Amino acid sequence: MTKDRLIIFDTTLRDGEQSPGASMTRDEKVRIAKMLEKMGVDVIEAGFAIASVGDFESVKAVAEAVRGSTICSLARTGSEDIDRAAEALRPAESGRIHTFIATSPIHMEYKLRMTPDNVVERAVAAVKYARNLIGDVEFSCEDASRSEYDFLCRIIEQVIDAGARTINLPDTVGYGEPGEYGAMVARLMNTIPNADKAIFSVHCHNDLGLAVANSLSAVMHGARQVECTINGLGERAGNASLEELVMAVRTRADIFPVQVSVDATQIVPTSRLVSSITGFPVQPNKAIVGANAFAHESGIHQDGVLKHRETYEIMRAQDVGWNANKLVLGKHSGRAAFKARLEELGITLDNQAALNLAFTRFKELADKKHEIFDEDLQALMSDVQPAEYEKRYHFVGLEAVSRTGSKPRADVQLTIDGEAKEANAEGDGPVDAAFKAVELLVDSGAKLLLYSVNAITRGTDSQGEVQVRLEKQGTIVNGNGADTDIIVASVKAYLDALNLLDAGVLKAHPQRGV
Ligand code: KIV
Ligand code: ZN
Repeated sequence: MTKDRLIIFDTTLRDGEQSPGASMTRDEKVRIAKMLEKMGVDVIEAGFAIASVGDFESVKAVAEAVRGSTICSLARTGSEDIDRAAEALRPAESGRIHTFIATSPIHMEYKLRMTPDNVVERAVAAVKYARNLIGDVEFSCEDASRSEYDFLCRIIEQVIDAGARTINLPDTVGYGEPGEYGAMVARLMNTIPNADKAIFSVHCHNDLGLAVANSLSAVMHGARQVECTINGLGERAGNASLEELVMAVRTRADIFPVQVSVDATQIVPTSRLVSSITGFPVQPNKAIVGANAFAHESGIHQDGVLKHRETYEIMRAQDVGWNANKLVLGKHSGRAAFKARLEELGITLDNQAALNLAFTRFKELADKKHEIFDEDLQALMSDVQPAEYEKRYHFVGLEAVSRTGSKPRADVQLTIDGEAKEANAEGDGPVDAAFKAVELLVDSGAKLLLYSVNAITRGTDSQGEVQVRLEKQGTIVNGNGADTDIIVASVKAYLDALNLLDAGVLKAHPQRGV
């Protein structure tokens, strides 16, 4: 029996970025998009073009860089939103405009302050307008799971007539329950007279921990597109996770009537990249991509797996890309091998100076650490790639002293607007002392919300990757830094966050307004 194709629509770069503090720069988005393309994701929602200049530039850069996947931009129903999305998507080989408006009584009355008739009128006008600019238009009924059934039938029929090819039914607030949500999809598909002219899609949030279950139930009931994110990143509790959806459909091919064309071995490397760029660590017991997902602790389990793997394993770790971080380069690797490996990771350095700097840093790292893995290269590149915005603060050096029985001290050297500065401070630990010294020079007024350190690879010579989340006047940013010395990595991450705060590009939020 040939199975229907399930379209994998990844929204890590749009809904994923709506997680507080998960903002990504344009180049980071391109790197993630290249990995998603390599993975074979069908549609990449690259952003919300009208939200900010940065978002527009990111959608455009992804549309220029990616060839194998359809690139999508979100747009509210206003013509300016749609024009901006179309303009950002112009370089795409295959582009899609995703327009949406809320359809639930609570959103229409209190948020939009519009009558249901006005909402239908606006949705139809938006879809027609978008279809004049691009052939592929998706329409979302925001808060569909709390919308009235008859109203959904009415608006969906009309937007399909207006030219929408995909109808998305978001469970925007994660309220749905699998049986009920799947039944809603089936009922709509069976009732709406022109339903066969569109693909039905689902987009589930994880507020009750049901996003994947709801999406899979919808697939069982006829949905043929799932919207999801890497690591389940997304607004509040996140979206349905791509890796769980893909592996559920693959592993239970005996019951799911669909097939996906994703290369699952790219899942773990992509998960790691997203985690390191956004600063959102993956919980160890997270399905598929958590560090313990394939680790067997109990003796009985270990014994069983050794005798016959399938006693306790339903998937193979290597099939989802564990161990894909094979040793890639070392001290003696040449410039050509280095450049080729970067290109495989979706990193292109467009000028010789950038390549020279990156290669010098690589050699410095290889002197400290014999084995250089993909994750090391990713971290190194975050440090080396030219900034997309003016950076006021640069790390120069530090000395940290931590001796049992005495107060830790740090002496930090920076440049601020090109001028050399130095300060020292005491703290509760060397990191605290180093941050205090930075603050003596910068006086940012920012609040530290999160500080975390992870070893990038195995072994005590691993680089430490530090994430620092700062908040100032409602703006939240994540800074990253990596080094074999974790105090240095910490100061780099702190400065990265300060530079982001300083660049201060605020975004409009898509679920506000029309
Ligand atoms: O959750 C949601 O409703 C959305 C839409 C904008 C698709 O993200
Ligand atoms: Zn969403």
